[in-house]
Amino acid sequence: MKPHVLVCGGAGYIGSHMCKRLARAGLVPVTFDNLATGHRSAVQWGPLEIGDLLHPADLSAVFARYPLQAVLHFAARSLVGESAREPALYLRNNVTGTLNLLDAMRSAGVGKLVFSSTAAVYGNPLYTPIDEAHPAQPINPYGLSKWLAEQQIRAYCEAYGLRAVCLRYFNAAGADADGETGEAHEPETHLIPNIIRAALTPSLGPVKLFGNDYPTADGTCVRDYIHVEDLAQAHLLALDYMNGQAGFHVFNLGTGQGNSVAEVLAQCQALCAGAPASETQPRRPGDPATLVASATLARETLGWTPRHGLDSILRSALRWHQGSATAAACPPTADR
Ligand code: UFG
Repeated sequence: MKPHVLVCGGAGYIGSHMCKRLARAGLVPVTFDNLATGHRSAVQWGPLEIGDLLHPADLSAVFARYPLQAVLHFAARSLVGESAREPALYLRNNVTGTLNLLDAMRSAGVGKLVFSSTAAVYGNPLYTPIDEAHPAQPINPYGLSKWLAEQQIRAYCEAYGLRAVCLRYFNAAGADADGETGEAHEPETHLIPNIIRAALTPSLGPVKLFGNDYPTADGTCVRDYIHVEDLAQAHLLALDYMNGQAGFHVFNLGTGQGNSVAEVLAQCQALCAGAPASETQPRRPGDPATLVASATLARETLGWTPRHGLDSILRSALRWHQGSATAAACPPTADR
């Protein structure tokens, strides 16, 4: 029988990429998702179990039904602005939900976990590139919820022998090379899908650029955009890593290369014959000027090498948003 892996949040943007990758690697991805933000249609590579991390009985049922060898936990609320308005939602889902998952794993004797964490645990960076030794000082409830979830996982590793890898993503972006899965949030708050939507649908109006007076080279915020396919690869390596390593481990996932909002816009306009139009708005509250990862630890310890840069991210996202009919207009490239 093929090994089974539980993918909490497997109907979401990154989780669905992961399921495809797991299936290709010969594993059976069992998606556990409440479909609050995920899409039933994104679950194509293994069974879908509709359930909620806040309902322990849903979890017990899925652990009883499948011979699970490990868990990948993507299920979370993940909008920074929303988290500031509704901290209870974030703390309950992301912290209590993770605790329930840990208890279900413990009861079932499943001892390996890969947890989706975020650069938001660092808050406003004290230095850049940010390495894993940088203090965690989250500045919004989303970052706080992920930091608290990490600490719960650490405690379970220390007390109960759980093996866990927390992967702190910088700015996840891009779409599947075959165009099968991509980023579809509603509402969409992220830069790249917003630029592409505005380019493809001019009636949406110009894309809003939040702030041009940051202390960066061109005044707009700098981020480290990392392709979902590179994220998925890191998860596979993390699963392997836990076969040989006990305990709790944290790795940043980014390219180490920053791109400003203005650079992302210009590169997208170059791909889309000048579209979209843009308009500068005031700063968005809570945006640090620069977030760039040092991913040296993941490279050296997991043997992870991100293959895609911004060009490949933008082309794949554009193709996914356009649909395959216009794929020929923007042929795929890999940056490295
Ligand atoms: N931006 C715009 N216009 C938009 C959307 C975004 O100018 O329509 C700007 C933002 O102000 C920011 C940059 O583009 O300067 C990137 O914004 P995103 O919303 O795409 O991504 P964030 O950097 O805010 O968010 C990412 C992750 C979060 C994580 C956060 C850590 O998606 O999960 O980094 O700060 F919490």
